[in-house]
Amino acid sequence: MTIVNPRVLSQPPRQVTRRGLLTRGLALTGAAGLIGSGTAAYAAVDAANGLVVTDYAPVPRNWPARQRLTITVIADIHAGGPNMGIARVRDVVDTAISLNSDLVVILGDYFATHRFITEHVPHAAWAAELARLKARFGVYAILGNHDWWHDVEGVRAALRHVHIPLMANDAVLLGDRGAKFWLAGVDDQLAHIIGRYQFKGEDDLPGTLAKVKTDDPVILLVHEPDIFTKVPPRVALTLAGHTHGGQIVLPYVPPIWTPSEYGARFAYGHIVEQDRHMIVSGGLGTSKVPLRFGVTPEIVRVTLGA
Ligand SMILES: [Fe+2]
Repeated sequence: MTIVNPRVLSQPPRQVTRRGLLTRGLALTGAAGLIGSGTAAYAAVDAANGLVVTDYAPVPRNWPARQRLTITVIADIHAGGPNMGIARVRDVVDTAISLNSDLVVILGDYFATHRFITEHVPHAAWAAELARLKARFGVYAILGNHDWWHDVEGVRAALRHVHIPLMANDAVLLGDRGAKFWLAGVDDQLAHIIGRYQFKGEDDLPGTLAKVKTDDPVILLVHEPDIFTKVPPRVALTLAGHTHGGQIVLPYVPPIWTPSEYGARFAYGHIVEQDRHMIVSGGLGTSKVPLRFGVTPEIVRVTLGA
């Protein structure tokens, strides 16, 4: 089951950051250059097999300027061939490890659910790869809609087995003395399919933020970016996945389709609204079809503070 939102085409064009344009431009140009301009379609399909690290250095008003924190963000692995077999999951994890960030977060949708799977990756296999991730302040995960829809207990058990904590409407205080921060994570907003294009979430944003007990800054993990409209300014930075950046994106125009109530508004990149910051990862794997066009799989690295 997937989400189709007919309102997408009526949404205003998104604000595409220069970084977003660069990432997309390089992906298309690089792949097309290798294969030849006459086979642009093949080159674009090949984008599903690329990997980039996309850097962001947001400056939220309520993140202390001298509190430096680096975060590696892994989103939407969707483990399973043809484009996210176990060898490629291993490559992604190797790249993430090489970034050596203070904190690693994994934003849900762990296994492929499309109908074109050529290599089944068991939960234990992708979880064993994620278990290699290490960070000074830890590795934390949240659930995505595909996890809930297809095997939430299996995903929970796999993460539990490798000791990766699952943040489900929870918050934890991390950091060094004098430089603490809260890491909060909400459960999935589309967890239960209750009708045609109708969903009931397991997310509890007020309950999650009620667990924040000090004035230290807050980083919020969400799978779907749509909740951003409800995130209070108290949260310094929201990190999201889910959209795959639109997954099929032509250069210089909004995505043809984005699984969001807000169309292209939250499809990709660094979004600032009313002094609130969110970064939406383009993710790594694929859903519906094992293809990407113009959105190279990415690991996001965020640097906060100087
Ligand atoms: Fe998702």
